[in-house]
Formats: sequence, C-alpha cells, structure tokens
Amino acid sequence: MPDTNAPLPAWLDGANAVLEPMTPQAVLAWAVDRHGERIALASAFGAEDMVLIDMLARLGRPFRLFYLDTDVLFPETYALVERVVERYGVRPERVRPLLTLDEQARQYGDALWAREPDRCCALRKVEPLGRALSGLEAWITGIRRDQTPQRRTARRLEWDGAHGLYKFNPLAPWRSQEVWDYIRANDVPYNPLHDAGYPSIGCTHCTRPVAPGEDPRAGRWSGFDKTECGLHVPLAGR
Ligand code: ADX
Repeated sequence: MPDTNAPLPAWLDGANAVLEPMTPQAVLAWAVDRHGERIALASAFGAEDMVLIDMLARLGRPFRLFYLDTDVLFPETYALVERVVERYGVRPERVRPLLTLDEQARQYGDALWAREPDRCCALRKVEPLGRALSGLEAWITGIRRDQTPQRRTARRLEWDGAHGLYKFNPLAPWRSQEVWDYIRANDVPYNPLHDAGYPSIGCTHCTRPVAPGEDPRAGRWSGFDKTECGLHVPLAGR
C-alpha cells in the first residue's frame, strides 16, 4: 500500500538540517509544538527515557507517555513507573500484549523467549506498539546512534513507514556520558539496576548484567544473534 502521508524526502532533509544542531530540549519543544496531544513518548524507563521524561516535564506542558508492559519487566522497572507518577505527575499509559503469559505458553509452549526470542518480542512488544501508536501523528524514542549498528543512521526526525507516523529521536547524537551527566545534574530518578551492571534493561528473561568493558548491550538477548527487539527495525510486510 503506498504510504500517502509520508513527507517528501526533501522536506525531511530540510527539517533535519534544522533539528540536527538543536539541543534535545529544543527538539522536544519543536515536536510538541507541532503535534500537541498527538505525540507520545515511548518509555521503557531506561536512562535515556528518564532524561526525556524530565526534559518534557520541564517544558511545562502536558505530555503523553506510554510503556509496553510485557508482563516480564523487572520489579525495579515497575517501581520506577510509580516514582515517575510521584515526581512528574504524569500517568504513563500501560499497553499490554494480547496474550497473557499463560495463554502464550499454551499456544507456543513454555519459555518462548528462550527458544524464539523474535517471536516473543513480536507478541509482547511489537504488536502492542502498533496499537499504542494508532491515532498518533508522532512518537518519541530514546534511541541513540551509538547503541547498535542499526541505530547508527538514526535521525532526529524520521518517517516511520511501518506505522505511518513521524518518529523523533531527540537523543540520537548523544553519548551515554551525556545521558548520565544530565541525570546527575538534574537529580533524575533512574532504575537502580543501572548501578548493578545493567546498562540496557529489557525483560527479565532476556536481560543479564554485563561485565566491565563488555558492550553495553551484550546483556540483551545474550546467546542469540539479536540486538533489536523489532520496535525500531522496519519489518518487511508491515
Ligand atoms: S529495544 O528495542 O532494544 O528493546 P531499547 O531498550 O534500546 O529498545 O530502547 C530504545 C527505545 O525504545 C526506548 O528509549 C524507548 O523509546 C523504546 N522502548 C523500548 N522498550 C520499550 C517499552 N517496553 N515500552 C515503551 N517503549 C520502549
């Protein structure tokens, strides 16, 4: 199906020429000015997402955020959701998979994540993302260019053709150091697992701590040739 809403590539290039030198805060202000209530932050409550929540709150306007609750997030992550509510007065929208864990086990067998992590991510994160994005004009993510090879070309503003809406990556050019400098300078709450060897945090079964010097994402889907859950990879046919 032709993507009739997609902007002209030249328009996108022009917008990125304006957005690339901006601070993340200015990118967020530009995005919220343009899209109002039809933009939302996708938050897994990792360090980058906490920075974006803090920056959005400081804009002083209402903002929307949602999280894909796979039912197997860490207890520390669920606790952080509550801290976000208290600190920022925003109510994160909880988006759940269509299948409970029991239903998934009945249909696909026990511990699908250990056998077919791609299918598990598709059921518990990627399909719910599609529902979360329906009705929106744009979404905001915490991806940074140096996180994975696929993210190296991430732009401040992209057209997400898989879902038919704009995608903002305000932190695309930032390094991990800048994220943590912001967190410390602004006393932003963060997941205590980051201090216990988890630079990147996903679901319990598919995230392990990393050793000093290891790739920060080595703890995600360890043992599999997989670096992305599929939220940020345009899949054929979608
Ligand atoms: S993942 O694709 O490997 O899981 P990662 O954990 O690096 O992604 O997070 C990158 C960005 O994807 C986050 O900053 C956030 O915008 C979005 N994201 C990842 N997981 C979730 C989730 N469970 N709920 C909402 N957004 C998420």
